[in-house]
Amino acid sequence: MREFRIAVLPGDGIGPEVMNEALKVLRILKDKDYTFQFHADMFLWNSEYYLQHGRMMPENGLDILKNYDAILFGAIGDPRVPDDISVWELIMPIRKRFCQYVNLRPVKKLKGIPEQFIHQERPINFVIVRENAEGEYSNSGGRIYQGTDQEIAVQNTIITRKGTERIARYAFQYAKKHGYQKVINATKSNAVVHSMKLWDEVIEHVASEYPDIQLEKYYIDALAAYFVQRPDTLQVIVASNLFGDILSDLGSALVGGLGISPSANINPEGVFPSMFEPVHGSAPDIAGKGKANPIAQIWSAALMLQSLGREDLASIILKAIEKVTEHGEKLTEDLGGNSTTAEMGEEIVRQIVKIM
Ligand code: NAI
Ligand code: MG
Repeated sequence: MREFRIAVLPGDGIGPEVMNEALKVLRILKDKDYTFQFHADMFLWNSEYYLQHGRMMPENGLDILKNYDAILFGAIGDPRVPDDISVWELIMPIRKRFCQYVNLRPVKKLKGIPEQFIHQERPINFVIVRENAEGEYSNSGGRIYQGTDQEIAVQNTIITRKGTERIARYAFQYAKKHGYQKVINATKSNAVVHSMKLWDEVIEHVASEYPDIQLEKYYIDALAAYFVQRPDTLQVIVASNLFGDILSDLGSALVGGLGISPSANINPEGVFPSMFEPVHGSAPDIAGKGKANPIAQIWSAALMLQSLGREDLASIILKAIEKVTEHGEKLTEDLGGNSTTAEMGEEIVRQIVKIM
């Protein structure tokens, strides 16, 4: 029997609070299902570590993480450390060095989320496949004549044939595997005529290999409106780094907010570990108060199990989460309830026990 090795990085703020609940969930699965074994090592590489050591992780941090099957990440960010340091010295190196070029963000409306937090009566169940390694978020560019009135800033978007092909292929494979009928290309090739035209061409080429799956193309501005007007018609959306980033916050807002939105940073070839983390940050405004919603972190752990080949356990977690939202008795404040992080986490554990 395979024992999964999981590196756990709780991070800052509410990160450790929600991570606690995700670990409770993993432990109960292990207790109830003897075919599921894992070993978790905790790494306290966070802003406190930075204040002590002058860096976000040890020099050989990535070499240590490389040997794990997966990384479960909380959230990073602390008012005492500049945000660009915590993000660029911890999360970005992991994403880049481990070739996690897919950022997967499911958007699903759970039963029972109170009406005031969602915008649609119809079911919502789609996935954003965001390009995670190139695109608009590149270091290429510069500034000249700084501080003068001739100042110029250039920021280059990097779209490559190879990078686009692999993200497109992931989107189509994902659609095929999970029973979706169409992939939507989020583009802006009418205005961004060089990079986005290459993006479109490559996606259309990959689409031709998947005759059973329909390709739809929308300009990003129109697509943003469709997110609000008819999110029930969305399925798999393939988007560049920037567009995918914006669409995923919009998607998250459609179904109940940051407290429930999970994400996965995936290295599809499995050469390196993939990393699973909530979309939200460290939420300093509610940290230490037991107010954080643990669903996003627990759902991220479910995505991890899915990627490790345990779809069965992932779907048990999802069912348990949805039971809790449906019953509506143990909800955190962001969903209109008054339960604590731990009360909600433990209720999810109780539901898992009932299902298994
Ligand atoms: P944030 O996501 O931490 O918080 C935004 C708002 O959502 C806050 O009002 C917060 O209370 C609420 N919120 C977030 N997660 C919640 C949860 N689980 N339950 C209930 N409410 C929740 O974003 P913000 O405030 O922009 O950033 C705070 C810090 O987090 C910054 O240092 C930022 O750099 C960092 N950050 C880190 C990320 C990561 O680790 N991947 C992602 C986003 C931000
Ligand atoms: Mg974002």
